[in-house]
Amino acid sequence: MKLKRVLPYAKQLLTETVESGDIVVDATAGNGHDTLFLTELVGAHGHVYAFDVQAEAILATTKRLKEANKLEIATLINDGHENLNLYIKQEVSAAIFNLGYLPGSNHEIVTRGESTQRAIESLLQLLKVGGIIVLVVYHGHAGGKEEKDSILRFVQGLSQSFVHVLSYQFLNQQNDPPFIIAIEKMKQLQ
Ligand SMILES: C[S@@+](CC[C@H](N)C(=O)[O-])C[C@H]1O[C@@H](n2cnc3c(N)ncnc32)[C@H](O)[C@@H]1O
Repeated sequence: MKLKRVLPYAKQLLTETVESGDIVVDATAGNGHDTLFLTELVGAHGHVYAFDVQAEAILATTKRLKEANKLEIATLINDGHENLNLYIKQEVSAAIFNLGYLPGSNHEIVTRGESTQRAIESLLQLLKVGGIIVLVVYHGHAGGKEEKDSILRFVQGLSQSFVHVLSYQFLNQQNDPPFIIAIEKMKQLQ
């Protein structure tokens, strides 16, 4: 199969961008799958900041990292990603968002367009040139379409002199399949 599925493609983008020793962000920790993946990419000398508004998600992520002996490479923050500039002062090389709700948990706790946009704006400041923000956009749930539309409007308005924005999407899949928005920083923002 030549066309990578959405999740493997998101991982490929991160793998191609992140180097050992980097600082990176998991904006939606959930059960910690991406947080663990990022700790493997940055290695013992790097660091992962992971955010989630649900204490349950932070606990699940803590457990996953502990079992893999990676807990000391990460800071897990029980707060919204829209506040990430309160916690991160260093340059980051990559960030991942998995939008929507935490599978197996409360489906009413979902990411929202306005806070997602605020997090992207902060990340665009913190991101190094050549760094990348990857959003996996799930939009089939209540409120998902509104979030998708508002994020698309926002990223389509970003200047191409500073960032390149990609959409990676299967056009003939049924039932609102997830798709990727990737934002690569080309130049320091003014
Ligand atoms: C699709 S799940 C993430 C799945 C995760 N990547 C994993 O590997 O399990 C989305 C997560 O975003 C969290 N979330 C919702 N609003 C948020 C916000 N403003 N800031 C940070 N996390 C948020 C939810 O609590 C939920 O755990």
